[in-house]
Amino acid sequence: MTGNAIPSVRIRPDIAAMDGYTFISGTYEVLADWLDRPADSIIKLDTNENLYGPSPKALAALAALNRELAIYPDVECRHLRKLLSDYIGLDPAHILVGAGADELIDLTLRLFLEPGDSIINCPPTFTMYPLVARWTGNCTVIEVPRLPDFSLDVETIEAAVVEHQPMLLFLCIPNNPDGGMVAPETLRRLLELPVTIVVDEAYIEFSASDGFTSWVPDTPNLIILRTLSKWAGLAGLRIGYGVYPLTIIQHLWKIKHPFNVNVAADIAARATLEDLPAMQAVVEKLIRERGRLGVELAKISFLDPLPSQGNYLLCRVNGMSTTDLKRRLDAEGILIRNYNKAGLHEYVRISVGKPEHTDALLAALRRIEVER
Ligand SMILES: Cc1ncc(COP(=O)(O)O)c(C=O)c1O
Repeated sequence: MTGNAIPSVRIRPDIAAMDGYTFISGTYEVLADWLDRPADSIIKLDTNENLYGPSPKALAALAALNRELAIYPDVECRHLRKLLSDYIGLDPAHILVGAGADELIDLTLRLFLEPGDSIINCPPTFTMYPLVARWTGNCTVIEVPRLPDFSLDVETIEAAVVEHQPMLLFLCIPNNPDGGMVAPETLRRLLELPVTIVVDEAYIEFSASDGFTSWVPDTPNLIILRTLSKWAGLAGLRIGYGVYPLTIIQHLWKIKHPFNVNVAADIAARATLEDLPAMQAVVEKLIRERGRLGVELAKISFLDPLPSQGNYLLCRVNGMSTTDLKRRLDAEGILIRNYNKAGLHEYVRISVGKPEHTDALLAALRRIEVER
């Protein structure tokens, strides 16, 4: 090279111009540094994990790993897909396993989108759909905001599909952050549109519904995403799955990283599915606790919790800034989620934990109530 000119590095201009994912959470270790308090004093109610943790059988299976760690995982996750197929009652041919539902969002978008294509997103909802759509596909995100009660604006979605001919429509059921459902007849109506619908059922185990996986074999434009991060207490291991029509899944196999699911995640997921009665009892406890938390939060003068079918409650905060509320709870080692985005400025989301977590949260909220 001649001269001292520093060569300019060119990256995709759309990514250079993009805002990143700003939400900060982290492991107990990282949070302990940030909050300057012991890790075991932190009550994490900000990211909808299962604070009961993994199944004892999953922990035992992880502890027993040894030889398996030295070799690559099964590219097809055959044993896990068989157990998942028993769990959802569908042929394993419909199931693809990934490193969390997040990886399946990414893979699905890669399969469908070319630059210039569009998707429909219905905010407020899970942030990853529009974000990943922009990374992977350099595509346009058509936003059809939810109605004030967080339900879908079905007529506007229908008009947007006709106008923009999007490749995908993302629906989160129960929706994160409000925990609202979509009625089967509404989903049927939307499936008549010329668009493929991705239903994210990350929280379906906490709802009164079995979800829509059984529709997939007969519905060519329906994809369901699920995760073991929430009900199964395995968020740290990154494991989820998608349920796809056969005409779609055959192409996904071509673009997935061969070893996308690590050995530890695979064995822990299998042990969890072999311990279903115990895990379902944990889910029942969380559902009961959601009921108690809702009743008690409604008694706090500045909070209005919404009914939810997830393991979290979205609460309207009245007469106080949500940043202030979060800051005051952070100072007590209790993490909740606040938002800096349209439609959610006046809301916080609180995950359902164990009864003692509810008690500590309520005590802190009552102190704030007195002090303000
Ligand atoms: C609606 C929804 N989908 C997907 C995910 C991500 O799941 P995973 O941990 O399996 O990537 C989350 C996590 O918060 C979520 O809320």
